[in-house]
Amino acid sequence: MACDVLVIGSGGAGLRAAIELADRGVDVLVVGKSKKRDAHTILATGGINAALGNMDPQDSWPLHAADTIRDGGWINDPRGVELLCKHAPRAVQELAEWGARFHREPGGKITQRFFGAATYRRACFSGDHTGQEILNVLVDQAEARKIPFRSEVYIFSLLQSRGRANGAVGLDLRTGKILIFQAKAVILATGGHSRMFERSSSRFWENNGDGIALALQVGARFQDMEMFQFHPTGMVHPPRAAGVLVTEAVRGEGGILTNARGERFMKRYDPARMELSARDLVARAIYTEIEHGHGTRHGGVWLDISHRPLPYIKKRLPTMYRQFLAHAGVDISRQKMEVAPTAHYSMGGVLIDHTTGETGIRGLYAIGEVTAGMHGANRLGGNSLAEIMVFGRLTGAHVARRIKKQKLHPLDQRQVAGAIGSLLDRLAPAGKDPLAVKRQIQELMWTHVGVARREKEMQHALRALGRFRALRLQTGTSLARNQRLVAALDVLNMLPTCEMIVRSALLRRESRGAHYRTDFPTTQKQWKKNIICTPTKAGVRLSTRPIPPIPKRIRLLAERPKPSAHLLE
Ligand code: FUM
Repeated sequence: MACDVLVIGSGGAGLRAAIELADRGVDVLVVGKSKKRDAHTILATGGINAALGNMDPQDSWPLHAADTIRDGGWINDPRGVELLCKHAPRAVQELAEWGARFHREPGGKITQRFFGAATYRRACFSGDHTGQEILNVLVDQAEARKIPFRSEVYIFSLLQSRGRANGAVGLDLRTGKILIFQAKAVILATGGHSRMFERSSSRFWENNGDGIALALQVGARFQDMEMFQFHPTGMVHPPRAAGVLVTEAVRGEGGILTNARGERFMKRYDPARMELSARDLVARAIYTEIEHGHGTRHGGVWLDISHRPLPYIKKRLPTMYRQFLAHAGVDISRQKMEVAPTAHYSMGGVLIDHTTGETGIRGLYAIGEVTAGMHGANRLGGNSLAEIMVFGRLTGAHVARRIKKQKLHPLDQRQVAGAIGSLLDRLAPAGKDPLAVKRQIQELMWTHVGVARREKEMQHALRALGRFRALRLQTGTSLARNQRLVAALDVLNMLPTCEMIVRSALLRRESRGAHYRTDFPTTQKQWKKNIICTPTKAGVRLSTRPIPPIPKRIRLLAERPKPSAHLLE
């Protein structure tokens, strides 16, 4: 299948880029692993940040940028943050014009609510299903432009000819057909890798590090792979629901955290911001309470929103209301929720230039959660939906300009045959069960490289990952509807991703943002830098690089004392 631009990933980032490309007359094709309207974007529930100042007129994009950098642990890419915060209001406006049903004030303005570490109310929302609303609007816009779309295709190989990315090979998961794509440029919008961890807010088939592994195949570089966000509040009980996201919007709407002794423990960790502290701090606080034996019977803490009236909850937190009733038989308008940290977001990823989406590999661009640098060491809730909208558009525009005068480069047929051969070689009637191996890797990462990290455990994890590499996996012999084959491909993607996470986490001998080392518990000035992973013939090499200067106006705002307790209505 030939096109000008191949977009791999059918979530918000990929769709927004495809829309921009189509509007500029580019022949674009979107390929997604999931079904249409069911990409991971729908799991970003609570809101999209934009300094509209609708509720708090003092808000501004530089303040948004300052919050993002301060609670990002000062290692974000300042240029990326500036672009994000400047362009986010336009992104929300655009979504509203395209029909997104944001919650509105009686006068018609879009309502904004608090999210953690935000100085002012900045998150625009549609109940607690903002990601789904945004994805639906983007799919509608893509359909209106007749953008071709292939769903349920697992891309397992990127193609490159004379140093330029020019296509990909994928497996149609339903029919078992192998699909070969040829393009002038490829945009990776494959999302993150939160399914490296056992307890995760993602669904089991997504966020397995596909994009990282694909970028690695063609020699792209990676940044801050150790920086992985554990969302403070995932469900705990029943076990089949463990990890499912409990949106930060619950705390944004006034939710209160207590431990099993009834103490409002955030007083001890961040008395100024309490439950609306930054995600890394709240996650660590909950983890610590549980570790110290102050957890609930199922190993969580309590989150309580029952002081809000039922109609309010049903309007602003309808998914949470239904989710707790359905999974746990808990009516959150009358009972507390049991919550604990869950793996949620990859701050590390492909190293890009945020002004263009360029990866350093000609013809290969990346946007969204697969990339690094925007969120530093800790992402603010609500910034990811803003990111996919802003950088989907900016990168789409840049790629459209870049490919204008380019021709389709012929595919290297030996490379295509090699990619297909490597897939067929995976088909094995005997071996270890890949579904079980996948679970073992997730358990290993959760136990040894999770919320709290230590040299000894991480070294153990690294050795164990090496042993997984040598395993022969039993996939069966069919290419169609073969869950074991998919799991085997996932394992192949997970292993290099996990190895880069662990090696980077070992190298960063300090605690910063979400990277918390019990053996190096303080933040060190000399570690205010990024860790870069560079593929070489001998394997991946790790190095560090300084953070680019932060514009003075933003730096001064970020250096001010952290915003104090919010006055919830
Ligand atoms: O908690 C949440 O609703 C998640 C939002 C986000 O990660 O941006």
